[in-house]
Amino acid sequence: MKLYTASASPFGRTVKVVAHELSLMEAITVEAVTVAPTKPNEAFQAKNPLRKIPAMELEDGTVLSDSGLIAQYLASRAGDTDLFAENSPGRWAMLADYQLAKGMADCAVSARYETFLRPEERRWPDWAADQHDKIDAGLKRFDAAPPAVEGHLTIAAIALGATLGYLDFRFTDRDWRSGHPALAEWALPILERPSFEATKPA
Ligand code: BEZ
Repeated sequence: MKLYTASASPFGRTVKVVAHELSLMEAITVEAVTVAPTKPNEAFQAKNPLRKIPAMELEDGTVLSDSGLIAQYLASRAGDTDLFAENSPGRWAMLADYQLAKGMADCAVSARYETFLRPEERRWPDWAADQHDKIDAGLKRFDAAPPAVEGHLTIAAIALGATLGYLDFRFTDRDWRSGHPALAEWALPILERPSFEATKPA
């Protein structure tokens, strides 16, 4: 399998952590790709028309895009039913947490694009502030009720760890830990796991 991603991407990190946790990393070659709005990347676009990362090219040439879909594929390939809490009564609550954690990463990446990539004269500070408002609401929700971790990590716990790691990486001026002590305590052992240590954004 070949994983197209960027080392800073929280979505790419989610996929890599999943692969580590499922002992599938050795079957994956990681290829760094650069994608940015208005910057064509024809070689990658030939594989993935929407130019979205991460994307996973399988041995038969199929290209899976979207971190959730790739994670589902890896779980299926490993014969794992815990990552997506299959057959568990808590499955839908876990998937709701997953979507929230992933949505927070969407907001964080959008805010990063707005304040870094977009030409200065076209920036819209209120729009970036709105992204942070949504992230803050998600942090509050997870501080009150972080995803359950019972021996193994679910996709919700992995995505939330990747989102918090991205906030640490790109928004050093906004200390998400202060004001969210329970979430900070929850994140400590998650971010110290070998799978997270091996996939730090750079
Ligand atoms: C970043 O540099 O922050 C980034 C790069 C690729 C995807 C998402 C974020």
